[in-house]
Amino acid sequence: MPTPLPRATFRLLPAGLRDISAVRDLEQLSFPLDAWPLIEMIGVLSLPNVLRWKAVEGEREELVGFIAVDVRRRQNIAWIATVAVHPERRGQGIGDALMAEAETGVDVPRMRLSTRMSNEVAIALYEKRGYQRVDVWPRYYAGGEDALVMEKWLYHE
Ligand SMILES: CC(C)(COP(=O)(O)OP(=O)(O)OC[C@H]1O[C@@H](n2cnc3c(N)ncnc32)[C@H](O)[C@@H]1OP(=O)(O)O)[C@@H](O)C(=O)NCCC(=O)NCCS
Repeated sequence: MPTPLPRATFRLLPAGLRDISAVRDLEQLSFPLDAWPLIEMIGVLSLPNVLRWKAVEGEREELVGFIAVDVRRRQNIAWIATVAVHPERRGQGIGDALMAEAETGVDVPRMRLSTRMSNEVAIALYEKRGYQRVDVWPRYYAGGEDALVMEKWLYHE
């Protein structure tokens, strides 16, 4: 049986515009087909309705993970805009911790997200955290792949 990876020693901190370079690098590594244009990245890191956290390691606070959540209070719903972990740090609980932080950090009852249908790893993470499949958006992603929309009720009003 393979030896399990040690759990990473990381911390979660609020993220902001000064993280743009590290977040861009992480997004390009994580989403080669769907990397955001710079202007969208600036929005995600600065708009007041978006909450964001980073996972960092070491004294130099090297960024190893990132999550952003678009909170739409009028609709009483939040959307996970992105979640990514550095390829060398995956499988150590960082993605799960970022999701947990985001779920406790929003003040709306419902969280939604979309993912490529083929992204089995992400879908496994979301299902583990209690997200359910609620919709499919045909040909949503570059290259024509469908999006799977998933939802979790965080609390009931
Ligand atoms: C999806 C992603 C964020 C997961 O982050 P991670 O830190 O590796 O995930 P964790 O170690 O916290 O794992 C949490 C759960 O996810 C699932 N999971 C993680 N890696 C997996 C793998 N290789 N295969 C199957 N399931 C996996 C498991 O359910 C795991 O729970 P477990 O450890 O109890 O088995 C990461 O793989 C990533 O950055 N992928 C590229 C970007 C991406 O696809 N983001 C999602 C876009 S919608």
